[in-house]
Amino acid sequence: MTKNETGSNPKFAAQTSLQESPAMKELFKDAISDLYWAENHLVKSLPKMISAATSPALKKGIQSHLAETEVHVSRLEQVFDLLGEKAIAKKCDAMEGLTKEAEGIVEGTPPGTATRDVGIILASQKVEHYEIASYGGLHQLALTLGLDEVAALLEQTLGEEKKADQTLSEVAEKDINYKAAQEA
Ligand SMILES: [Fe+2]
Ligand SMILES: [Fe+2]
Repeated sequence: MTKNETGSNPKFAAQTSLQESPAMKELFKDAISDLYWAENHLVKSLPKMISAATSPALKKGIQSHLAETEVHVSRLEQVFDLLGEKAIAKKCDAMEGLTKEAEGIVEGTPPGTATRDVGIILASQKVEHYEIASYGGLHQLALTLGLDEVAALLEQTLGEEKKADQTLSEVAEKDINYKAAQEA
């Protein structure tokens, strides 16, 4: 039996399967469709953040996460495949809101400043935390439903979202926050 995130055995693993619970399957599939929309949306939105950022470390960090985000899209397509479903995106209002907020910050801060970079980092970390919450929850649910291959795919992406969040924190701590305080 696969251990869950806390290292204990999942309590309901033997009791719940997709065949037994069509409603649960629907819920799981909908959540994957929501994430599929979100990741596709990020593929379009991250390049705007790269061109708005000034710090080379920040640009590089977002650039490499954009490449990972493209992989996240294809991993979700593999998940749909494993579920025997077509890959369908369902609009994710939360991700739309988070990316709008990021774009608003860019518009509201002067170009070429560390202040704008700090704003981009704050907004980007909210995006990563939303993804971490989504992948974390769905990874656990996949384990509970006995979808081990799906769980493994979700776990891979979860790890990359956590790393992206960490990279953003490091860029903020090492470089940008100090410069932004000097600009103030
Ligand atoms: Fe992602
Ligand atoms: Fe991400």
